[in-house]
This record gives sequence, structure tokens and C-alpha cells, in this order.
Amino acid sequence: MEHLPVLWEKIEMIKPYKFENIYSDGKNLLTKGRPVSSEKTINEYRLWNPRRSKLCAMLLNKCKTMPIKKNSRVLYLGAASGTTSSYVSDIADNGVVYCVEFSPRVFRELIFMCEKRKNTIPILADANKPEKYRHIVENVDVIYQDIAQRNQTEIFKKNIGVFLKKNGYGIIMVKAGSIDTTAKIKDIYNHVINELKSFEIVEKIELKPYCKDHLAICVKGG
Ligand SMILES: C[S@@+](CC[C@H](N)C(=O)[O-])C[C@H]1O[C@@H](n2cnc3c(N)ncnc32)[C@H](O)[C@@H]1O
Repeated sequence: MEHLPVLWEKIEMIKPYKFENIYSDGKNLLTKGRPVSSEKTINEYRLWNPRRSKLCAMLLNKCKTMPIKKNSRVLYLGAASGTTSSYVSDIADNGVVYCVEFSPRVFRELIFMCEKRKNTIPILADANKPEKYRHIVENVDVIYQDIAQRNQTEIFKKNIGVFLKKNGYGIIMVKAGSIDTTAKIKDIYNHVINELKSFEIVEKIELKPYCKDHLAICVKGG
């Protein structure tokens, strides 16, 4: 792993980070939990790779607000094979993570991840159609979305409308290239921010150098 830590081998360097259930060795972030793939571990700690997880990149890029906490109920849209959602499951260890994914191929791997984690629920569904999983998902504290689709903002707003509790938070990982391949990146970001203007924008964080042309936007629902 290319960003491997200078301090990693020294467990005594691992300290609680500024957010609940997240740790740091001074350079890298870690959570405590069961390993999922080939990530490095030391005792019960799992190294979190910001190049494989946009949430980790957001947290490392001077993020001030982390709405996912120990007791959070989280709706995770675009869970893929479960890499980031496994870390969300470690953080919300006393909560629930509803993992929505529509590709049957990666969903099989997601099921393996969820089988080992009691607070995760895999849902094979299209996030465009929240009514299809309304009977499974309760109202949640946080909606986290990482879906590389042209209408990603529309999907996010639709799910917020159906599932987000009053004063809950939404985090959307905007992939500029999925929305428009010709426009300037800043213009795409501004367009998305404008589409989200009915919410309070809590933070906007670019994910470089870990993920090129991605912006994390955290909003607060009314
Ligand atoms: C960038 S990957 C997600 C990576 C994952 N969040 C992680 O960090 O481990 C985007 C995922 O969104 C899924 N996706 C795209 N459109 C979707 C939709 N409408 N409903 C559900 N999943 C969707 C894709 O199949 C893909 O697995």
C-alpha cells in the first residue's frame, strides 16, 4: 500500500482521533473492527486507505464535521463490495448501516461483508427508487452517498426526502466526471451546490490528492 505509514508498526502511537470510534497513528486513520479484505491490521485496528475510501479522504482533508457516530443509523447508497461501509460499520458500532447497491456482481461481495457484521443490512436496490426499500429502512441520522451517476444529486435529494430525520445529515461524494465530462470541474461543483441550496451546506471538502476531481458535500436537513 503506497501511503503506508511511518508510524504504523508502533501500536503505542495509535490514539483516538477527533471523531468518535476513529483512531490515528499521527498520519493514517484507523478503526477498530474485523478485517474485510487485505487491509493492514495491528491488533484490533484496521488501517483505512484514503485512496480506496472517499470518506477517509474527506476526514483527512481537514474535515470539521463527522456526523457518523457510535449510535448513528446510516443509509449508505452505493455500497459496492463494502469497503467503506465496513469502516462506517466500525464507527457506528452501536447503530445500523443500511447498505444499498444495485449491481448484483458486487452485491455478492457486499453480502459476505455484511454477514460478518451484525449492524449492517445489505439491500439490492436502485437508489433511484427509494420506495422499493422503504419497508426495510427506517428513518436515519445520516445518508451517505457515493454513486457515480449523472443524476447523483437528484438521487441524494430523493432519499433525503424519504429517509432523513429532522436535523439529520447527508454526505454526498460528487464525482465531477460522472456528471459532465466537458464542463469545468468548478462549474460542475457549483451546479451541484446550487441544486442543494434548499439544505444548509455544512462543509465542502475537495478530496485531492487522494481522489481526483471529487468533492464531498455535507448538508444538514431541515
Ligand atoms: C464508486 S462505487 C462505490 C464505492 C464504495 N462507496 C466504497 O467506497 O467502498 C459506486 C457504486 O454505486 C453503485 N451504484 C450506481 N448507481 C446506483 C444506483 N442507482 N443504485 C444503487 N447503487 C448504484 C455502483 O454499482 C457502484 O458499486
